[in-house]
Formats: sequence, C-alpha cells, structure tokens
Amino acid sequence: MSEDIERVLVTGGAGFIGSHLVDRLLASGHQVVVLDDFSSGKRENIAQHTGDARLLVIEADVAGDLDAALDTAHAASPITRVAHLAAKVSVVASLEDPLEDLRVNAGGTLRVLEWARRHAVRKVAFASSAAVYGDVAEVPTPERAPCAPISPYGIHKRSSERYLALYAEVHGLPTTSLRFLNVFGPRQDASSPYSGVISIFFERARAGLPLTVYGDGEQTRDFVYVADVTDALERALFSSPDVVGPLNVGTGVGTSVNQLAAAVLEVLGAQLEVRHDEARGGEIRHSCAVVDAAAQQLGFHAGYELKRGLAEMIDV
Ligand code: UD1
Repeated sequence: MSEDIERVLVTGGAGFIGSHLVDRLLASGHQVVVLDDFSSGKRENIAQHTGDARLLVIEADVAGDLDAALDTAHAASPITRVAHLAAKVSVVASLEDPLEDLRVNAGGTLRVLEWARRHAVRKVAFASSAAVYGDVAEVPTPERAPCAPISPYGIHKRSSERYLALYAEVHGLPTTSLRFLNVFGPRQDASSPYSGVISIFFERARAGLPLTVYGDGEQTRDFVYVADVTDALERALFSSPDVVGPLNVGTGVGTSVNQLAAAVLEVLGAQLEVRHDEARGGEIRHSCAVVDAAAQQLGFHAGYELKRGLAEMIDV
C-alpha cells in the first residue's frame, strides 16, 4: 500500500486488536499516538516499541476528558487519522452493566468524533461489531440486513456507527465503520469468562484442561484472524472519504463452536474432554458475514482460514 507518512491516533492501542494495529502502522512508517486507560489493554502489548520516538502513549479513559492530552500531542505534530478501537469488548458484561457499556462504547465514540471534528482529521475508522445485527434471518449477513441488536453492547456499537455516519454527513468528517466478526489471535486476553472463545480454548488446551462448550455447540461464528483485521483497518484509515460503510470484516465462513473445539485440539495435538454447559443468554445463534462490500470498497480479502490462524498462535 502506498501511503504518505502520517500521524495516527489509535484509541485502545494497548489492547488486543489495537496493539497489532500499532505494530502494523509503525511497520508502514507512520507515527502513532496510543490512547489507552489500561483497563483491559496491557503495557506489554506495546512494550516492543519502547524507545521508538515515533510512538507516544497517552494514558486516559476514552470516555473521560481527552482534549487536553490530545491537543498537546496534536500541537507537537498533527494527528491526521484516527482508529477508534477503545471499548468494553464483552457482550455478556454489557448485559450486566449496560450503563458502563453506554458510557464507554457510545460516549467514548462521541468524544473521539468531537475531537476529530474540531481538528479536521482526514479519516476516523471505527471498530464496530457483527453484534449490531442481532439474530438475523439472513446468514451469511450482508450489511443491508436489518439491525436488531440483542445486547447493550450491540446497541451501543450500532449507535456509534450512526454517529460516524452523522459526522460524515453533517460535519464533513470522513469516517468508516467496520463491522468485525469474531476476531482472534495472539494477545487476546483469556483471563475472564467473557474472553473470546478461541483464547479460552487455547489456554485451557495448552494447560491440559477440558474445554467447555456453552449450549449444544452448534451456534456458529465467523472467526477472523487479527492480521486480517489490522489489514482492513489500515485500508479503512487511508480509504477515500466516500467509503463510509459499515463494512463487514470477516471470512464469510461460519464455524460451529463444536468444530472450533475440535480444530483447536487438532492444531495443538491435544486429546482432551469437551464438556457442555448451559447456553449463555443474550447470544446470537449464528453469525457469519457477506464480505463482498469490503472487497469492493477496500480491496480487502481475509487471507487466513481458521486453522492457519490457529497454527500461527502456537508460535507466539
Ligand atoms: C464476540 C466478541 C465481541 C464481538 C462479537 C462480534 C469477544 C470476547 N467478544 O462476541 O466483542 O463484537 O464477537 O460478533 O471476543 N463459548 C463457549 N465456551 C467458552 C467461551 C465461549 O462455548 O468457553 C461460546 C459462546 O457461548 C459463543 C461463542 O463461543 O456462542 C463465541 O463466544 P465469544 O468468543 O464470547 O464471542 P461473542 O459472544 O460471539
């Protein structure tokens, strides 16, 4: 990709996806400002860049008062593009504490957009989620499918998308929303019961512990590898202003949780019990994306199928 060298703000830049995006942007030659409150992001995720003068790390809550710290950074060297990834990432946690999800996931987006509008940023790219669809009739799901989210998390991701579209329309701020399917890869936190299923299965299998599948395990997800997601994000950041989205970012392939458990055990060469537990409430049954729009508008194609991504995780 040929891009001029610019300064990119990555909110949530110490998180799972954010830190991979930071790696990628620095590798492309850009300067990067990370904004992270380290509530779920980790310093070790970006520790490999310690001493790199092109990286500035600001510790702040995305839903708090951002302006002073960002204004200072911007005055030193203008921030021209923003990848907004800072968020509470758990669907289950949003059902337990919807107000906190609203504060961070919708409120944080609005604060970032306000700052970007005032500083004439050239593009804001946003990490939305397939959770905006809810239980859709059409699977694989195209972007034009009706959105009927069934969690506060999905509702707040959807309202954030609407805010991005509004700022593009009303304020002329170029924005792109990307709807991520189920992202997986190295650095995904496995420590909470709300963590991504692949990170949990991987950690348990490596420790020789049985895997727990919630419900019958026939629910399906479109698992997309983090290197593909950061590719889509970089393309979105440098895309033309008329690419507003929302655009699905997935593989277009659905995998059941039962198939996933078998694939993890196969890739790790482990023989462990797979147990079933009660199904989770507030969950989407099937989730899989039609990926044509991102291909047409961003030239994006997921390069990793599930087992290739799982195999890469072993070496980390
Ligand atoms: C995930 C993301 C969310 C994203 C959404 C996009 C995480 C933590 N959540 O939600 O940010 O917006 O995809 O659609 O990455 N499961 C088990 N056993 C386990 C853990 C999970 O069977 O030990 C099952 C769950 O019940 C679920 C599936 O695996 O059916 C996926 O769960 P999870 O990884 O938590 O992701 P989502 O809820 O799909």
